[in-house]
Amino acid sequence: MRNGKAAWVVCAVLGVGALAVAASEGAVKYRQHTMSAIGGHMQAIVDIIRGQVPHTGHLPTHANALAELAELAPALFAEGTQGGDALPAVWENAEDFEAKLGAFKEATANFKAVVDAGEDARGAFRGVGQACKGCHDSYRAE
Ligand code: HEC
Repeated sequence: MRNGKAAWVVCAVLGVGALAVAASEGAVKYRQHTMSAIGGHMQAIVDIIRGQVPHTGHLPTHANALAELAELAPALFAEGTQGGDALPAVWENAEDFEAKLGAFKEATANFKAVVDAGEDARGAFRGVGQACKGCHDSYRAE
């Protein structure tokens, strides 16, 4: 009887562990999919800025998407979502990481404002690229 109970406890613990792993794997995939979406908008903007397509009218949509995705970014790195190519430093240097998230939010909001104002957005776009790189250099595995 004692063995039976021990086995049940082990199963319960393994079960919960497996669920936790599944949840965090899901969270890592979701983070990567959302980051890929961010990357897709960036590449589409490059296509437009380089004149490879005539869709300058699409710029506000991409700029708005980036600004909104930057608002979601903090939730992608919630405690317990360690894994993927995100370095442990994300959670170890939480204060600095939050500063990178803040810089990203600021750069995308600025880019959106410049695009919406119909001004030359190349400088603001470089700012967004620097915000990506500023975070990836310290917090994303090569
Ligand atoms: C605050 C930090 C931070 C910012 C800002 C940031 N990223 Fe990331 N990005 C990461 C981390 C960390 C990963 C690794 C995520 C993982 O594998 O779980 C990543 C992964 C990616 C990936 C790979 C996704 C995949 O499928 O594995 C792409 C593409 C990407 N980022 C593009 C961008 C672009 C473009 C920007 C700027 C517009 C940006 N990121 C801004 C931290 C950031």
